[in-house]
Formats: sequence, C-alpha cells, structure tokens
Amino acid sequence: MTTRRNFLNMLAKSSAVIPFIGTQSLAAQNSHLRNSAPLKILILGGTSFLGPHQIAYALQQGHSISTFTRGKTEPTIHKELFKEVEQLVGDREDNLEALKGRRWDVVIDNSGRKVSWTKASAELLKDSCELYMYISSVSVFYPYYKANLKEEDALVLKVPATTEDEDEKMTYDYGVMKANSENIAMEVFGKDRTIIVRPTFMTGPADRTNRFMYWPTQLAKGGDVIIPGKEHDPVQFIDVRDIAKWMIHLIENKTTGIFNGVGPVSRMTVPAFVYGAHAAFSSRVNFIKIDDEKFLKENDLTFLAPWVLNMKKYYGISRVDNSKAIESGLRFTPLATTVKDTYDWWYSDAVSEERRNTFLTEEHSLVAKQKMILQKWYAYRD
Ligand SMILES: NC(=O)c1ccc[n+]([C@@H]2O[C@H](COP(=O)([O-])OP(=O)(O)OC[C@H]3O[C@@H](n4cnc5c(N)ncnc54)[C@H](OP(=O)(O)O)[C@@H]3O)[C@@H](O)[C@H]2O)c1
Repeated sequence: MTTRRNFLNMLAKSSAVIPFIGTQSLAAQNSHLRNSAPLKILILGGTSFLGPHQIAYALQQGHSISTFTRGKTEPTIHKELFKEVEQLVGDREDNLEALKGRRWDVVIDNSGRKVSWTKASAELLKDSCELYMYISSVSVFYPYYKANLKEEDALVLKVPATTEDEDEKMTYDYGVMKANSENIAMEVFGKDRTIIVRPTFMTGPADRTNRFMYWPTQLAKGGDVIIPGKEHDPVQFIDVRDIAKWMIHLIENKTTGIFNGVGPVSRMTVPAFVYGAHAAFSSRVNFIKIDDEKFLKENDLTFLAPWVLNMKKYYGISRVDNSKAIESGLRFTPLATTVKDTYDWWYSDAVSEERRNTFLTEEHSLVAKQKMILQKWYAYRD
C-alpha cells in the first residue's frame, strides 16, 4: 500500500522538481534519506555550475547549506531552492568576515582560483569544520604525457621557466594553482580531514561555457555533423549532476583522500560518443569523419569538448584512471540523458536568446565555421 510517507520518499528520491510541502524545510522533510546525520555544509561558491547541483542534492538528502560568494553570480538553475540556503557575502580575495566565529561540519571549496585563497579559508576554518573538500581538476596532471593517470601520479607544481607561449602558460598556471591548492588544503586540515576531487570536463545543465553545445544543438537539428579525430581517440567527461551527488556521498561517508572525478564508466571512443549522444534525438544526420590531424590543426579544430586532438601533451587527458572514484560510489547518467537534459536546458528560460545567438556566431564557433571547413575538407580529401 502506498502510504503518504512512501509517496514523499518516492518524490524526494526522484530527480524531478521537488515540490515544497507544507511549511517544513527540505532538510526536515528529507531527513530519512541521507546516509549520515544531517550535515551543516558550507560551500565556498555555490551559484554557478557545480554549486547549484550540489545544493539540490544536499538539500534532498536533508543537509543544510550556507554559501559564500561575492553576491554577483546568480544561479540559473534550481533558483527556487536558494530560499533554503543561507547566503553569506564576502570576497575570497580580502574579506572572509562572514565566515568568522561560525561552525560547519564540512566546507566544500568550489571557488578556488588562487593558492592564497585556499590557504586563508583552510586556516580560518580548520578548527570550526571537520572536513575540507577541495574541488581541483585533472589539469594537475598537465602536460598529460601518459595514459591511466592515477591519483598518486606526479602533479605539476610549477610552470617550467622555458614556457613562453601565453596560452601554454595559462594552461600551466591553472594546473599549478590547483595542484598547490590541493597540497595546502591537505597541509592545513591534515590528509585525514581532506577530500580532493579532480573533475574532468563537466557537462550538463547550467554550464557557463558553450564548449559542449555543438553536440546537443547540431545532433538535434540534424544535417552535417563532424566527428573529429581518429576512430580510436578516447573521450572523457562527467555529468555535473553525477559528480555533485558523489561529492555529497563522499562527505556523508567521510571518505577522505584524493579522487579523479572522471567518466564515462568504461572507455569510449569519439565516434561512440557522437552516436551515443545522437541517441537522444531522432534527427536525420550526415556524419562526416575528419580524421586528418594536420587538417584539423590547420583549421583550428583541436578541441571540441569532450574530444581533444591527440597531441603529445594531451595524450593522457582522456585516459585518466577513474577506478578509485567508481569504487567509492561515482555513478554515471546515460550519455543520451545528459545530452537531452542539456538540450532542454539550453532552450529553456535559463539561457538567454543572446547567449544562444552568440554561440552560433562567435569567432571560434564550429557552427559558424562548419560550412567553410567542410568545403575545405572535401577539397583536401579528394
Ligand atoms: N567546468 C569544468 O569542466 C571543470 C573541470 C574541472 C574542474 N573544475 C572546477 O570546478 C569548480 C567548480 O566551479 P563552478 O564555477 O561550477 O562552482 P560554483 O560553486 O557553482 O560557482 C563558483 C562560485 O564562486 C564565486 N566566486 C567567484 N569569485 C569569488 C570571490 N573572489 N570570492 C567569493 N566567491 C567568489 C561565484 O559567485 P560570485 O561571482 O557571486 O562571487 C560562484 O558562486 C572550480 O573550482 C573549477 O576550477 C571545473
């Protein structure tokens, strides 16, 4: 028999929009669902891409959330849940006042952009929070010379003095910042109280970049769709909702340590990715494989997330080992679901018409360049 409690359980467990029932907070309504006692979670950040998904799942699990931001970025997804969130305002650069004299069980550091920011927040919170979760990146492995990168592999701790190219320097800077931030978090909190998660490309609703949008938009529309790279080039990505949910499970279970946050569950080649993504739609598509690396490079087609041209320094970027993450509970949304949900979000009110237009016309947009690239490709190939 379906009791009212079972019915509420079912609703709360589903990923559908959770209705507000009565006057109880979500934390109170869902207290029976979580794997741990209710946690007081502080998110440094919380309002852009990853944060709202963490918040949605944590509230569903019955935890309570405080966010710490400058108050500039507005969430574009799960907006309705923010009335349940304590929103603290400050600046990681120079104003942590709002965090002083408070206690939380866990701090999730999403907004780490400088080593000094992580040092300052970890030092301030080390006696008032039990766990520190730092959101790093697989960029700590740059340059990705080898395959099967594991958590314990060497990190990039400084930019080589010989680096002159500005783009290359920026890539190094990001990896170096994340690697040193990981170390400072572990140094201040202690390894036994720190969780480091290294996401690969995150995809899904609320992404602030347009780098994945070629796939849902072009595959839904139909017509010519480019499959770049060699037949066996692997791809890796992670649905933002999967990684958000897993992060909350890690803190609930106090699973400390370092984890590569990478999907899919097993090796996927670029054609498998494109065909799998197309399963979200029933459009008529003309797939065109462009596998000549020289041509791709000459036409500035070296990166179409999650695919990356097989260059020496990027060899391992899509070959990161995710076995530890899977063992600790990371689970994966089917690719077609990720693509369909991203498509639905892209055409919802959460995304402005202006952004959609910019995506079609911006300088590096493959959509804008595709006709020209294909003409060149046919001439080059024949
Ligand atoms: N996207 C990917 O594929 C990917 C891959 C690997 C790793 N990562 C990492 O994942 C993490 C999550 O990023 P996210 O943007 O999605 O997180 P988020 O928590 O949803 O949003 C970032 C937050 O940082 C806040 N913020 C920015 N500057 C701040 C400052 N000076 N002081 C206080 N708050 C500040 C922003 O709000 P205000 O603007 O209002 O301050 C915003 O709420 C990042 O560390 C990123 O490096 C991302």
